[in-house]
Amino acid sequence: MKIVSTVKELTAIREELKGSVGFVATMGAMHNGHLSLIRQARIQNDTVVVSIFVNPTQFLPNEDYEKYPRREEADLKICTLAGVDILFMPTCEEMYAKTEPEILAPKNLAYILEGSSRPGHFDGVLRIVLKLLNLVRPTNAYFGKKDAQQLYLIQNMVKTLFINTNIIPCDIVRESDGLALSSRNIYLGEKDRVQALALSIALKNASQAIMKGEREAKKIELIMLESLQDLKVDYAKALSRNFEAKEQIIVKETILLIAAFVGNTRLIDNLWI
Ligand code: PAJ
Repeated sequence: MKIVSTVKELTAIREELKGSVGFVATMGAMHNGHLSLIRQARIQNDTVVVSIFVNPTQFLPNEDYEKYPRREEADLKICTLAGVDILFMPTCEEMYAKTEPEILAPKNLAYILEGSSRPGHFDGVLRIVLKLLNLVRPTNAYFGKKDAQQLYLIQNMVKTLFINTNIIPCDIVRESDGLALSSRNIYLGEKDRVQALALSIALKNASQAIMKGEREAKKIELIMLESLQDLKVDYAKALSRNFEAKEQIIVKETILLIAAFVGNTRLIDNLWI
């Protein structure tokens, strides 16, 4: 595995690559969710490129940028074992200039759900993902459904800015009890860890109600809220897969989305119906 920290080096290596390139963008502190993306990339491409960069522009001033887990040594081992060919770990100075064009996520999508609690977050995500895609020029880029709104905004960017990369959505990896894996799960204390299960339980209860025939979005949202009553809920929504509110749920066209605080930790989860 080649470890690369400069844009110059990465560009030179990219020039030499033949065949398909699979790319996984991460902020490190890797877990089996990240690994599942890397594995899929490994199976489907000649070369696998992974980036680790805790991107400052997607954190709001009051968020956990400084505190965000950094686990370089463990991440290096995971990437080596997973057969990554090129690991890109740039500094902030390498990725950002003092003056550069602003990238703004579409307003109607970027300021709802995650964007409503984290205004500007998706501008930062798109800004870094665009830079990474421009550098790596991957054939296929792998993103988790765990961050469904991020995935949708990236798909939208790639399509509308005519970027020549296939975006491959990857399933959510969960603990055996249902908790969706997240780098932020390490913030959860013992009690929080139990409480956090409410998110996946709420999604399961809602999907069971849908399987039994309930189609009213508002009722499904109430079912989720009931399961989340011990938590501070940010949102619990049943939306179309392009993030529009609909009165009636249509199976195979719906996504259930939750964000809630467990103690001080904000968790998200979702289920594609
Ligand atoms: P990060 O949170 O490190 O996640 C990297 C990728 O792993 C994302 O595509 C995310 O959706 C996926 N992922 C995280 N948890 C997962 C799980 N439990 N199952 C499946 N996939 C999972 O998302 C980011 O970083 C950043 O916003 C980034 C895209 C790298 C831009 O900075």
